[in-house]
Amino acid sequence: MKLDTTWLGLSLPHPFVVGASPLVDDLDTVRRLEDGGAAAVVMHSLFEEQILAEELATLGPLDDAREAYGEALDFLPMPDEFSLGPEPYLDHIRKLKECLSIPVIASLNGTTRGGWLRYAGLIQEAGADALELNFYDIPQDPSQSSADIETQFCDIVWELRGMLDLPISVKLSPYFTSLPHFALKLEESGVAGLVLFNRPFEPDYDIDNLTGTRTLHLSKSNELLNRLRWSGILSAERSLDIAISGGVHSPTDGIKAILSGACAVQVVSAVLEHGAHLFGSLREGLSNWLEEMEYSSLDKARGALNLARCPNPEIYKRANYIHLLQSWRGILEP
Ligand SMILES: Cc1cc2nc3c(=O)[nH]c(=O)nc-3n(C[C@H](O)[C@H](O)[C@H](O)COP(=O)(O)O)c2cc1C
Repeated sequence: MKLDTTWLGLSLPHPFVVGASPLVDDLDTVRRLEDGGAAAVVMHSLFEEQILAEELATLGPLDDAREAYGEALDFLPMPDEFSLGPEPYLDHIRKLKECLSIPVIASLNGTTRGGWLRYAGLIQEAGADALELNFYDIPQDPSQSSADIETQFCDIVWELRGMLDLPISVKLSPYFTSLPHFALKLEESGVAGLVLFNRPFEPDYDIDNLTGTRTLHLSKSNELLNRLRWSGILSAERSLDIAISGGVHSPTDGIKAILSGACAVQVVSAVLEHGAHLFGSLREGLSNWLEEMEYSSLDKARGALNLARCPNPEIYKRANYIHLLQSWRGILEP
């Protein structure tokens, strides 16, 4: 069965890719992922704050810089709290390119225009095959509108598009007010693909000690549903590539991602839980299903349930929500 696909212009033998995570930090692990059948790897992100912290550290002791910049720098971790600083990150791209034959996608994570963006050029020079931009942001300033934020992100893409030959994808949060509009603007700015979605890490509370806590939970399959909705809408409306990231744990999840219109499917939590051989079972499950359903290739099935091709497109609409709520008949357990 032909499972080949293209993501950001890269030819992949099948859609299942290691998503951005520290899974690619160790060369032995990453070799095992390739042997296990991963079609490409996305490196963990190099963060704007990390580059800024490193640059400040070269100007003088970071403590002085913190004093000089005051509260504005309170958010900065110390440089040694990050895994792989900016220069080691570039070195790691070179090493990955030497030891792997699958594409290596680097990830830059930030929100503002600034000097840190020059690392995109260095990432290209180091040999990455594509760049994933992660615009993870938690807006807290009431004077900043959603249009301001979207324009800021599109400006970053414009700037990078002007300096790079590499294909660029953008990993989005699910919380944009009008994703179809923003996706259009990103496509016009030169983005080749969208990764749906970032998985915002939500703060929790410790009610005994009255403090905030931060815990990283791995995903569950039910997180896939919001991705299917937006992949189904955006793949029908836009010609840029869509990758799903979030909630893919089984071959069935992978098949659903393809039916929604995804070109690539990024997996992290399930690989952490089940190991590198997961890629073999995702691929085999997809291949068997395509045969059973008498599809001649993956391409024929891609997007078969997106907004344009779904036999009951009302599942994407508000009417479906009203119908579901109004028709629910439950009983209250005694
Ligand atoms: C331990 C860990 C580290 C991660 N690091 C990054 C990162 O550096 N950059 C990024 O864009 N996403 C990062 N992610 C998010 C994943 O790429 C992915 O979007 C998210 O885990 C949802 O996919 P999943 O359901 O397959 O886990 C990380 C996730 C985990 C679990």
